[in-house]
Amino acid sequence: MSFDLSVIPNKNIIMGITGGIAAYKSAILVRRLKDAGFNVRVVMTEGAQAFITPLTFQALSGNPVHTQLLDPEAEAGMGHIELARWADLVLIAPASCDTLAKFAAGLADDLLSTLYLATSAPVWVAPAMNQQMWAAKATQRNLATLVDDGVHVIMPESGSQACGDVGLGRMPEPEELARQVTDYFHKAQRAIAEKFGLLASKHVVITAGPTREAIDPVRYISNHSTGKMGFALAAACYAAGAKVTLIAGPVSLDTPNGVHRINVSSAVQMLDTSMQLLDEGCDVFIATAAVADYRVAEVAEHKIKKSGDELNIALIKNPDIVATIAQQDKRPFMVGFAAETRNVEEYAAGKLVAKKLDMIACNDVSRADIGFASDENAMTVFFAEGYHLPKRDLEKASKQEIAQQLVEAIHDALHHDPAQDEAF
Ligand code: C5P
Repeated sequence: MSFDLSVIPNKNIIMGITGGIAAYKSAILVRRLKDAGFNVRVVMTEGAQAFITPLTFQALSGNPVHTQLLDPEAEAGMGHIELARWADLVLIAPASCDTLAKFAAGLADDLLSTLYLATSAPVWVAPAMNQQMWAAKATQRNLATLVDDGVHVIMPESGSQACGDVGLGRMPEPEELARQVTDYFHKAQRAIAEKFGLLASKHVVITAGPTREAIDPVRYISNHSTGKMGFALAAACYAAGAKVTLIAGPVSLDTPNGVHRINVSSAVQMLDTSMQLLDEGCDVFIATAAVADYRVAEVAEHKIKKSGDELNIALIKNPDIVATIAQQDKRPFMVGFAAETRNVEEYAAGKLVAKKLDMIACNDVSRADIGFASDENAMTVFFAEGYHLPKRDLEKASKQEIAQQLVEAIHDALHHDPAQDEAF
């Protein structure tokens, strides 16, 4: 299960393909852009069609390929102005000398050059050509004009060329181009979230996963927590504009995009790291970790040998991380979790008070379809009395959807003014 938000939903890219041997790389580029979640429509010049067929791009993009400016049938489907408006980004790859010259001169004698003039979307060009043509004064002059006009130029790479020459003019690999496009949208998305997101300007610290309590150098006590809920929350908080630090016990999950992860092993390490982060400034603390209640009183220096029929190991209580943080003077907004097998709501409400939390999300782990190792969850959320907020039932949904609803609940509590309630 991945919590990477690298997939960009609902963004439209027009890929312009012009006449050059690098057009074969554009087929893979369309695939990579589709993989990243973009909607892709392809526009091909006549020159491009000498190298690769529209059918290839139709199959890869899942959309009809646009080739003609003055084709009544195509214009009836999606005319050039509509196409220009549809785009969130126009990417010309490869961009030939001829196309660069047309753009620089403002010609509009084919579909792609007309589209260039008609779109208000950012335009990126990835020039690819013979090194001598790249170095030609006219090409450099046209590029300077385009940069001046606000076009983003992806510099060609140096190396051996299809024509046998060696030098500047190779189109970067499709994966690299797709990465640059995805990065651009991520940065734009992040800038919006940082300004308008539900948790904009908040630093959120999240504990996740199990802890591992050493018995000797090779053995430990732990539990089955997978960390999925905490990782989903980290991704959701980041998407809501927060700066997120994830304190993770030993789990095998990828770090969500943009999230700062600190790996720890034991409960004591998890607490030390939490206290350190609290010192650095933390607005919201979310404890999803399944912290081992006890640790071994004295960790053996060497591997314990098998001897008698019985082995007794003394255990001592671990610190309660969330309760310790909640007792600090500069305490953040505190969110706890309760996984119970019976009297779920009663026990959760008790923990809310006992641990001095602001909010608690509880679930019934006796249900086989939700909880620990499952990809889905269903929860009930309680707020501390002072908030005057009613409990919320979060219906069974993916852990990502539940995480999103928890972010909304945190936001609502942070911005809820109980004084307003009393006025009514
Ligand atoms: O007491 P219980 O383990 O049921 O409480 C669960 C909540 O307390 C969770 O939010 C969990 O992350 C947190 N907790 C903690 N440190 C502990 C035990 C639990 O932060 N030692």
